Amino acid sequence: MPRTALVAGATGLVGSALLRRLLAHPSWGRVVSVGRRPSGQAGPGLLEVEVDFDDLESAELPVTAVDDAFCCLGTTRKKAGSLEAFERVDRHYVVAFGRLAKRFGALRLLVVSAMLADPESGNDYARVKGRMERDLEGLALPSLTVVRPSLLLGKRRESRPLEAASIAVARPLAGLFVGPLKRFRPVTAEAVAATMVRRALAAGEGVEVVESDDIRERESCRPE
Ligand SMILES: NC(=O)c1ccc[n+]([C@@H]2O[C@H](COP(=O)([O-])OP(=O)(O)OC[C@H]3O[C@@H](n4cnc5c(N)ncnc54)[C@H](OP(=O)(O)O)[C@@H]3O)[C@@H](O)[C@H]2O)c1
Repeated sequence: MPRTALVAGATGLVGSALLRRLLAHPSWGRVVSVGRRPSGQAGPGLLEVEVDFDDLESAELPVTAVDDAFCCLGTTRKKAGSLEAFERVDRHYVVAFGRLAKRFGALRLLVVSAMLADPESGNDYARVKGRMERDLEGLALPSLTVVRPSLLLGKRRESRPLEAASIAVARPLAGLFVGPLKRFRPVTAEAVAATMVRRALAAGEGVEVVESDDIRERESCRPE
């Protein structure tokens, strides 16, 4: 039986790559994408739902149940305007998505977090991501996969000078990301999306954390 996926963040760098893969994959017959605007993608199994993120967990979906839920939501503090607004998206909306997935009986939740996520971190970004992970664990879904990428590579429509500068610095240093530094190696959004698809197909019960150095670039080249 083809599975039903629920996706949030499908207009983003990782989310758009993920949605493309899910729509092309024989294991999923239906993909429900929740967002505040259309994904811009098309496919026979795609169902798009415009939602109010402040009331995401009560959203009505055009299906009775979902199998796998994928969350690629996120913003930046600069875009959000404040730490509180950043936390609303990167923690509270993600947790609301987890609750929505649970309401529709999801067996698996896969979420993009970030390297060094830690609920007690002194770094605001890492702390928000860590608290989001902790809150999701509290939902006790049958299976939770947390993917923690390092710096993301991929073509963005918007300009992010800080991210672009970090990538420009990291590129010529690629040869240094070995041994204990391997986990800092930037990863492509395509590889993150491919990892999420593969983990969804393989996920057992409980919580699984995929660190950045377990996100394999060659996975992004293989047909799904
Ligand atoms: N950038 C990096 O180097 C990096 C590194 C490690 C981890 N991460 C994490 O990886 C995840 C995916 O990153 P990405 O670069 O693919 O993200 P992205 O391209 O910025 O996309 C983010 C998604 O979240 C949605 N979103 C943002 N603000 C929203 C709001 N206020 N209400 C509703 N939806 C909202 C966007 O929808 P709209 O299109 O409607 O705005 C979009 O679909 C994020 O959680 C990010 O923190 C990023």
